[in-house]
Amino acid sequence: MEDTKQAQIDHVRADIIEKNICPELAAQATNLVIGDGNLNAEIVFIGEAPGKNEDEQGLPFVGAAGKFLNEMLAAAGLERSDVYITNIVKYRPPNNRDPLPEEKKAFWPYLLKQLQIIQPKVVITLGRHSMEYFLPDMKIGQIHGQAKRIQFGDHKIVVVPLYHPAAALYNGGLRQTLIDDFMDVPKIIEKLS
Ligand code: URA
Repeated sequence: MEDTKQAQIDHVRADIIEKNICPELAAQATNLVIGDGNLNAEIVFIGEAPGKNEDEQGLPFVGAAGKFLNEMLAAAGLERSDVYITNIVKYRPPNNRDPLPEEKKAFWPYLLKQLQIIQPKVVITLGRHSMEYFLPDMKIGQIHGQAKRIQFGDHKIVVVPLYHPAAALYNGGLRQTLIDDFMDVPKIIEKLS
């Protein structure tokens, strides 16, 4: 019998540990933060990397940025349990520094495996670190909130690049832009079905 989606995700997690991906990050982290939510979700959110709270709890987006994300999900008529949330880098970088290009590259195949397991209709990137892997050479200031259809393996997916909630949290203009973009997500999903 084919493994359940949960068993497949558990396998991805075990693989990251077994292959010793980013040992310097792993050595300083409390938890590997693989992701959280509904493995049958139509929407997958992809952030940057765990922060302090995420590292402590082993769950993505549970700190201040996560609270803001939860509020936007609720305002868009979605619950966390309707979607899947993960990051491109699965260990907290020391002092929340930006993830390095080689760290993003090392984790990218595992993110791909997660997407192959979940098979979402829409991938929502939060911030430029995850956007650049799906939409290379694009500028978030020019394309935020726009649905882009891309070839992904043997099928097409829709990617919606949004600003990162942590960046928008304390920046009034960006905050409103992110909220406005976010509120359009249900319309994008509706158009696809
Ligand atoms: N910021 C991210 O990019 N991811 C998290 O999980 C938390 C904060």
